[in-house]
Amino acid sequence: MPDTFDDRMARQVDGYIERLFVPRDGALEQGLKDAEQAGLPAISVSPSEGKLLYLFAKIAGARRVLEIGTLGGYSTTWLARALPSGGRVVTLELEQKHADVARRNVDRAGVGERVEIRVGLATDTLRDMIARGEEPFDLIFIDADKTAYVEYLNLSMRLAHPGTLILADNVIRRVTAPASADEDSRGIRAFNEVIAAHPRLESLILPIIRENLDGLSISIVR
Ligand code: SAH
Ligand code: DHB
Ligand code: MG
Repeated sequence: MPDTFDDRMARQVDGYIERLFVPRDGALEQGLKDAEQAGLPAISVSPSEGKLLYLFAKIAGARRVLEIGTLGGYSTTWLARALPSGGRVVTLELEQKHADVARRNVDRAGVGERVEIRVGLATDTLRDMIARGEEPFDLIFIDADKTAYVEYLNLSMRLAHPGTLILADNVIRRVTAPASADEDSRGIRAFNEVIAAHPRLESLILPIIRENLDGLSISIVR
């Protein structure tokens, strides 16, 4: 597979789609600015991918959403906005500083009351949730450390029900380059192979145009 991509054309296409389908949004834009001010990395999903997450949550009729990797709450806000009243997003984050920024951002966006941020190692939090018999989720979005994606998937399966939609971000970035032997790429490739062969999942990867070529995996639990 080619390991170069026409970034200029990608930005043009992404910009065209964004201008047409993703209205400017003061709360989301301010949230990104505040995250940058606080020194958080600029690795939120793109506006178009945020809209895609929002649409998936609506298509799935999701009421309970689990997110692994909160950062500044950008994707969290998109997901929370898709929920009916009484809906809930539980989002897991390692860094207290990120959680603090995210809390301010989801509150400003008007979805604070439906967002619960749990701080800690996501694997620990997920194991706790399983042990406590947490009610299953309708949509699970995996977007934290790439080396743990397979583990997040396995734990997510125990917080899912038949029909749960499991999405994972960044599943194409760098993975097709022959030289991508770094541990993130290995983690992602392992994840992709697991979802491709999993007896309880039906899956596909949707290529996503961001600042570069990336992908979102889509799996539905049998
Ligand atoms: N979903 C966000 C971006 C998440 S970036 C958005 O699109 O807006 C990945 C986040 O995962 C970072 O905030 C990072 O601190 C967090 N993270 C990394 N390792 C983690 C771990 N082991 N447990 C929980 N969160 C983790
Ligand atoms: C990185 C992580 C992400 O989740 C993302 O969407 C983009 C970049 C990163 O770790 O570089
Ligand atoms: Mg990501």
